[in-house]
Parts: sequence; C-alpha cells; structure tokens
Amino acid sequence: MAGLYAVALWAQGRPATSEEMKRRDLTVFADGRGLPVGKGSAVQGQGIYKAQCAVCHNDRGEGREKQYPALVGGIGSLATDKPKKSVGSYWPYATTVWDYINRSMPFDHPRSLSVDEAYAVTAFVLHLNGIVGESQELNEKTLPLVEMPNRNGFVPDQRPDIKAKR
Ligand code: HEC
Repeated sequence: MAGLYAVALWAQGRPATSEEMKRRDLTVFADGRGLPVGKGSAVQGQGIYKAQCAVCHNDRGEGREKQYPALVGGIGSLATDKPKKSVGSYWPYATTVWDYINRSMPFDHPRSLSVDEAYAVTAFVLHLNGIVGESQELNEKTLPLVEMPNRNGFVPDQRPDIKAKR
C-alpha cells in the first residue's frame, strides 16, 4: 500500500517523506505483525470509551438497536437459531479488533486515537466481553496472545479455486 501513497504524493510534485509514509502505512496482520509499540488496559480505556464511543455503542457496548452495532454479547450463540454477532462472539483475532478500531473509530473521527488510546479502548471492549481482565495490559506483544472465543469458528473455504491456507 505504501507504494501507492508514495506515487500519489509524488504526483503532487515531491516524493513522500519517510514520516509521511509511516503515518499512512498501518497494516496490522492477525498474528500481530505491524502493531505499533504501545500499551493500555481496560481501566485506562473506560474514560475514552465513555467520551468517544458510548454515544453510539451505548454504555456497556450493547449498541443501539437498528442504528449502531453491539460490541458485546452473543458468545456461544452463533450456531443457534438466534445468532448474535459481536466483537466477543464473532471476531477471531484481538489484533484485528485493534486494527479496526485504530483505523476506523470513532466513526465520526477516524484515525483520531493515539496508539495507546487504541490499546486501552480495545482492552475495554474486550473486558466488557469478559475476555481480558480489568487491569491486564495489552501491548504489541500481549495483544496477539489474547484468545478470542470464536478463534476456531471459521472453516477454510472448500472451493477448489480458492487457495487460502489457514
Ligand atoms: C458516531 C457513531 C460511532 C462512534 C462515536 C463510534 N462508533 Fe464504532 N461503529 C459505528 C458504526 C456505524 C459501526 C458499523 C460500521 C460498519 O459496519 O461499516 C461501528 C462499528 C464498530 C466496531 C465493529 C463492530 C462489529 O462487530 O462489526 C467496533 C469494534 C467499534 N465500532 C468500536 C468503536 C470504538 C472503540 C469507538 C470509540 C473509540 C467507537 N466505535 C465509536 C459507529 C460509531
């Protein structure tokens, strides 16, 4: 991706500086590659959540019906006739949750969270789901070790022309 941005800036008349490249190059992989150095816990994330997330996702992540998705609940419900998808019940990797929040939330101010705020608020969302402890520190090394409840709920695509390896 970084290459594309370099071209875009070069078209404006100069090559991108490495600082500009770094700001735009934010790919984080499921195994944690690409996570920036930083840290945060649910205790630290609580205030950020209240100020910047609760207006849409509600006080405890229950969402607002037909408007904003729930971030909690439904663990164990996916194989029932009332499946409820949430961060807790559906997402297979905590790293991906971090990446999603970091690049796209708050919905109305994406990319406004600092790295530490993103770790802290991710920890809070995982804590609301009962996945991490209140004062458990998440950082670039511990986040990939968090076991999500639905980690093994995905199956490889069986179509012969799909070469995905898991
Ligand atoms: C202005 C409303 C708004 C605010 C504020 C907001 N969100 Fe969201 N959030 C959304 C909407 C809308 C979606 C669904 C986006 C989509 O599906 O494309 C979403 C989706 C999400 C998801 C993915 C849910 C899923 O399972 O698909 C997460 C995680 C999330 N938000 C976390 C946060 C966090 C953390 C904050 C605060 C830092 C935040 N959001 C602030 C509106 C908001």
